Amino acid sequence: MEEIGYQIYPQSFKDTNQDGIGDLKGIIEKLDYLYDLGITLLWICPVYQSPFDDNGYDISDYRSIHPRYGSMADMDKLLRETKRRNMKVIMDLVINHTSDEHFWFQEALKDPEGPYRDYYIFKEANHGKAPTNWRSVFGGSVWEKVDDNFFYFHSFSKRQPDLNWENPKMRHDIYEMIEFWLQKGIAGFRVDAINFIKKDQRFLDGLSDGNDGLVSCFDYCRNQKGIELFYQELSEIFKKYDCLTVCETVGVDYSLASNLIGESGCFSMMFDFNYTNIDIENEDYFRKRDWTIKEYRDALFLSQNEIQKIGWSAPFLENHDQPRSFNKLIHNSQAGNQAKKMLAVLFMLLRGTPFIYQGQELGMENFKRTTIEDFDDINAHSQYKRAIEEGFTEEEALSFLNERSRDNARTCFCWDNSRYGGFSDHEPWIKMTKEYPEINAKTQIDDPDSVYWFYKKLVHLRNNQFHQLLVEGLFEANEFDNENVISYRRVLNEASLCVICNFSASIQKIPYIDHDQVIINNYEELQICDEQLCLQGYQAVVLFKFKSYNSLQE
Ligand code: GLC
Ligand code: CA
Repeated sequence: MEEIGYQIYPQSFKDTNQDGIGDLKGIIEKLDYLYDLGITLLWICPVYQSPFDDNGYDISDYRSIHPRYGSMADMDKLLRETKRRNMKVIMDLVINHTSDEHFWFQEALKDPEGPYRDYYIFKEANHGKAPTNWRSVFGGSVWEKVDDNFFYFHSFSKRQPDLNWENPKMRHDIYEMIEFWLQKGIAGFRVDAINFIKKDQRFLDGLSDGNDGLVSCFDYCRNQKGIELFYQELSEIFKKYDCLTVCETVGVDYSLASNLIGESGCFSMMFDFNYTNIDIENEDYFRKRDWTIKEYRDALFLSQNEIQKIGWSAPFLENHDQPRSFNKLIHNSQAGNQAKKMLAVLFMLLRGTPFIYQGQELGMENFKRTTIEDFDDINAHSQYKRAIEEGFTEEEALSFLNERSRDNARTCFCWDNSRYGGFSDHEPWIKMTKEYPEINAKTQIDDPDSVYWFYKKLVHLRNNQFHQLLVEGLFEANEFDNENVISYRRVLNEASLCVICNFSASIQKIPYIDHDQVIINNYEELQICDEQLCLQGYQAVVLFKFKSYNSLQE
């Protein structure tokens, strides 16, 4: 609860053996950087054995480290080194599916009568065709043919067959694996795509919603009735180890959240995506939405209010599946650092455990690619294909990817302005961004006015001066008649912090708010005109009031 989280995408964080791929030794090398920033909890994306069809989210052996990242000895060292710095480590737990190269799946293919067949979802063909018309998350059918009679099921890529959670033996093996890692001394898990583990067992066709003749699988394999029984079993293990878990649950309605978090929930906290995908519909990059600041505010505040009723959340601006927040949320390339700092203020003071995604603290930006071949991510290729199928031109399809592709966040972390941004001496596995001469850690650490220092200040507030208020304080929305300003309070006993963010490039006025002290300001001053607060473009301030006011009108 008290932690400040930081997400590491190992492949792109720091390379120490000069093969162009980040590694565990690289994380160890940079622990002091993270410690200095005030980070207390690391989420490390998958470093397990994998053929990398989906960048490690396709695991072929849960109990070993892929050699490109190092060895189990490196992992143990990382755990020792983090402990020394009082930092916790959570790993990714990917248990909706495995890789098709996993031993269980290989056995299931080899022997239809054997014990592993039922670890996965095999179904008979429907008059020679796929059993249902459901579309997988990465495009194409959820069904992959194995022979004339049988198909297997995959929610994501065809190289990520879904595990059959209806099978208690399979669940038992997964639980053993979870205990293996907890016994190693990790603090817990970020739990991947967990609301997918139960499928609608009727396996019925749906009404097609695209030119491919298929229908999104979401209604059939996300948040299905009965999933709570699997959550309950999982939570027994988590409880045994008193571990910290964050669930990734895209598309969860708040009415279902009490299965996930709070007293009767399985996880310590949740990543809520209801405000994250504000710019697109149904997770399709080409279904762009015209959203307003007010809509964004309302979605964010709904999330805060609803989760506050039930349990704990993990607010985030970015992750390895999202574009950079500056590009997604600020439609003004001139807005620069003020806007990046404004976004930081908005998010770092929300109720919950904030997670910073690597490079966010530097204000890293999307990277524009000019041809489809430059995209690495499997989903980028599928979204491109679907956009074309839906009648968009290649140029349009490319522009959707440049805005939304997951490659945007996966470019290498820039440590300095040397070649390859100090990430490696070798050409990186993914095309390097052009921004590293300006946006890099070294330059920003040397500049007290940088985005980095601003984040550091915000982290410091939460870890020190306002620790109790920011951890325990309630969230309360501020309402005023200005749709360009997002503002809320965190309130504990008699004290409150008031966050005010101008989301626009122009001057915005709001009613004066009484305060004892300006704690954070991304401008030199806070102007008052006509007895109103007069906010500059993208200005963000945090005001402290010792005796809390009940209403803004007072
Ligand atoms: C989660 C991960 C994403 C991955 C998917 C399938 O959404 O964050 O990167 O592709 O699950 O495992
Ligand atoms: Ca390496």
